[in-house]
Amino acid sequence: MKILAIESSCDETAASVVEDGRTVLSNVVASQVKDHIIYGGVVPEIASRMHATAISGVVKKALEDANCTLDDIEAIGVTYAPGLIGALLVGLNFAKGLAYSLGKPLVPVHHLRSHIAANYITSPDLEPPFLCLVVSGGHSHIVAVNSYTDFTIIGKTRDDAAGECMDKSARAMGLDYPGGVNLDRVSKEGNPKAYKFPHPKVDGSKYDFSFSGLKTAVVNTVHNAKQKGEEINVPDLGASCIDTVAEILTGKTMEAAEEFGFTKIALAGGVSANSRLRAKMTERCERNGYKLYMPRLDLCGDNGAMVGAQAYYEYKSGNRASLDLNAFATMPIDEKI
Ligand code: KG4
Ligand code: ZN
Repeated sequence: MKILAIESSCDETAASVVEDGRTVLSNVVASQVKDHIIYGGVVPEIASRMHATAISGVVKKALEDANCTLDDIEAIGVTYAPGLIGALLVGLNFAKGLAYSLGKPLVPVHHLRSHIAANYITSPDLEPPFLCLVVSGGHSHIVAVNSYTDFTIIGKTRDDAAGECMDKSARAMGLDYPGGVNLDRVSKEGNPKAYKFPHPKVDGSKYDFSFSGLKTAVVNTVHNAKQKGEEINVPDLGASCIDTVAEILTGKTMEAAEEFGFTKIALAGGVSANSRLRAKMTERCERNGYKLYMPRLDLCGDNGAMVGAQAYYEYKSGNRASLDLNAFATMPIDEKI
């Protein structure tokens, strides 16, 4: 079955046609990154307006690239939460309009579930149950993927997400938005042991994260150096920051895998493109005898293909939205739709 999927939760307007959850027939992404650079981050109002301008062209191109017409499409999948509310509403309303006019089902897709589903496209053999580290600009979760549509949160961040920590650290170092991407690039040759940052203790759950302290420590390191007129070695500071984040994420994921008996581990979300995180996870999974799944690099960031993959499994489990479906800025991944 072919699903037309739409994604507009942040600063990418994306549409895709995916067959049976795993075969991507088209994947069109119109990125707004360049338009937000001068502001140092995503401006929600600009994002919404740009989605509204781009969406019909992006959907049209996705159909053309897939060599399809709307008649070939059996359902419309759409991201409805979590994300920037105005941005989400553009994709959601467009999807509702299509579903209504075509008389075809509307399938609601949770953004983090779709990030996890990017792995089904990359690894056709991957099936739940498995453990997934979901790390994006707004979320950092360790999730048990019990089935395609049933999730248990094992740990999550108490404050900032891993992506937010890297984005703001990068900004303090004078790097452009999106900071995490640029920090990864400039710190490839840096010394990860040049700066020592503590691993935070989080009371309560040993699988919860906290990244705000690390973010502040990196920002303070930059400001203190400036006040003293000292030079910061950006590759070294960047490498030390990323290495600390990657070590915390990998360490807790490995502990959770052992405690909960998972031998299949997946990575998901924009931060899963990070080279040090990928290397650390690869090394640690090999050492522990776990099989590691990572999305292809072009599927780590926001895209429509991952929405189409998850929409297929939501559809198969009977999830349908009525035309009064709203968008939500926040929504737990384990919420029953
Ligand atoms: O999943 P995503 O594209 O959007 C959200 O759902 O938030 O994630 C975006 C986040 C940003 O914080 C961005 O800086 C980060 O992913 N990111 C990276 C890399 N590529 C994207 N962080 C570190 N290294 C990267 N290579
Ligand atoms: Zn995302």
